[in-house]
Amino acid sequence: MPDVITIFDTTLRDGEQSPGCSMDTDEKMQVAQALVDLGVDVIEAGFPISSPGDFEAVQKIGRVFGSKSTICGLARCRKEDIDRAWEALQDAEKVRIHLFLATSPIHREFKLKMAEQEIIRRTVEMVKHAADLMSQRADITRPNVEFSPEDAARTELDFLCEVVEKAIAAGATTINIPDTVGYATPTHFFNVISHLKKHVPNIDQCVLSTHCHNDLGLAVANSLAGVEAGARQVECTINGLGERAGNAALEEIVMALRTRQDYYHTATNIQTTRLWHASRLVSKVTGMTVQRNKAIVGQNAFAHEAGIHQHGMLQSRSTYEIMKPEDVGYIGENLVLGKHSGRHAFRDRVEKMGYTIDDATFERVYNDCIALADKKKSIFDADIAAIIESRAHHAPETWTLQSFHVFGGTGTIPTATVELHQSNGENSEPKITRDAATGDGPVDAIFRVLDRMTELSPVLTQYVVKSVSGGKDAQGEVLVEIEHDARRYHGQGLSTDILEASARAYLQALNKAHAGRGGTPIAPERGV
Ligand code: KIV
Ligand code: ZN
Repeated sequence: MPDVITIFDTTLRDGEQSPGCSMDTDEKMQVAQALVDLGVDVIEAGFPISSPGDFEAVQKIGRVFGSKSTICGLARCRKEDIDRAWEALQDAEKVRIHLFLATSPIHREFKLKMAEQEIIRRTVEMVKHAADLMSQRADITRPNVEFSPEDAARTELDFLCEVVEKAIAAGATTINIPDTVGYATPTHFFNVISHLKKHVPNIDQCVLSTHCHNDLGLAVANSLAGVEAGARQVECTINGLGERAGNAALEEIVMALRTRQDYYHTATNIQTTRLWHASRLVSKVTGMTVQRNKAIVGQNAFAHEAGIHQHGMLQSRSTYEIMKPEDVGYIGENLVLGKHSGRHAFRDRVEKMGYTIDDATFERVYNDCIALADKKKSIFDADIAAIIESRAHHAPETWTLQSFHVFGGTGTIPTATVELHQSNGENSEPKITRDAATGDGPVDAIFRVLDRMTELSPVLTQYVVKSVSGGKDAQGEVLVEIEHDARRYHGQGLSTDILEASARAYLQALNKAHAGRGGTPIAPERGV
């Protein structure tokens, strides 16, 4: 039997820490659901002491998903951090506390101002404290404590061995080796893990783990080198999300281990057919688009354009294809729906694509797709996926777009006229409002009139237009990010008309800002 590598996902902690990628609790719950569906073994849900928002998210994720995956909370080697993490994790069935303390000479001297022996003393004391807390819970037979010597890749090997040995003796069950600044190279990282395996006498009492950052573009290669040297847990994020150049990408690690099982002789518990969906979701909620040629989940990852490749593929797919698109749940250009497709065929397709949606959402998605079939010749899987994602998690809105009209072109003053329905609570008729504004271009004019009608004046910080599939009649997807009252909100709009998609995306973000619903603080409210 191959060894099973524990997949520890830190999209919601290390990934979310990346500027512009913060998620509100509702978005974190959506991502946590996707991680559970993927079969992620350990979900690092946040850093509870860092902010009330992080605490709440860890608590909620623990309550809802803590019987399916192990839910982990991060803590510095401080009593108050550990107590707060433990408090947040109380209701989760399967739990882990993750402690970290830097060990490299640079961090010791400039950040911590602590001597080596003090670092060891603090590590031992705090690992024991976390293990003691956990062992007080009747259902926990073995405390699940992870310790990370931060910046391990730049730590003297002798000192690293000493810290690791003492942390294990104090009760750490996982030792994670972070390459915090993405400094390692594959052979270097292999040697660090091998050295620990060889020189730490009690190393067999813990699981060794990798946590590689991507500053030199080597995070995945370094993690795999760690596995080759004997690490049995990999820490990673969906789409490689994370500070600076990001973390090791989960989808790349998992597919490398699977595709090259002949070499690594390991397996994971990941349902690889859910990778594509998880990637799209994380991209949508963070507004971080995935580059087209990104390995595994990029739109071009399975496109074979070159004639010579196409010729080979026609003879046998294995000539140029090392993974099957369906193995990663690729949603591409399959033609799936005509105007006359029935509900049954449609539901079947939706389920094959890996979506589970309730009946009411199904009806709305089906009707949207039938309406779309009137506008464009062919409906692709990608169209259905985009509609499902725009329909799911749809909260009630104060304003809905009824109609709009845009006037523009060379030598004219772009003007937008918009009609909105403004809801006045459940029991009264919506109010109809109309207004018009000019702008630099049609999109600017639409955004200006919407600002005036909603009496909000946010700053637009991101505006992205993407085509959902190929073809001139393709649906356009617009993603916007706005800042309002020191919070950041995302909106998404979908239409074959990109001006309408723009209006819908912007209005969705305005609705969220108006309700103060969700959104994330611009300056992280983290106290650490
Ligand atoms: O990169 C790092 O060192 C970390 C630790 C908290 C594990 O994220
Ligand atoms: Zn990190």
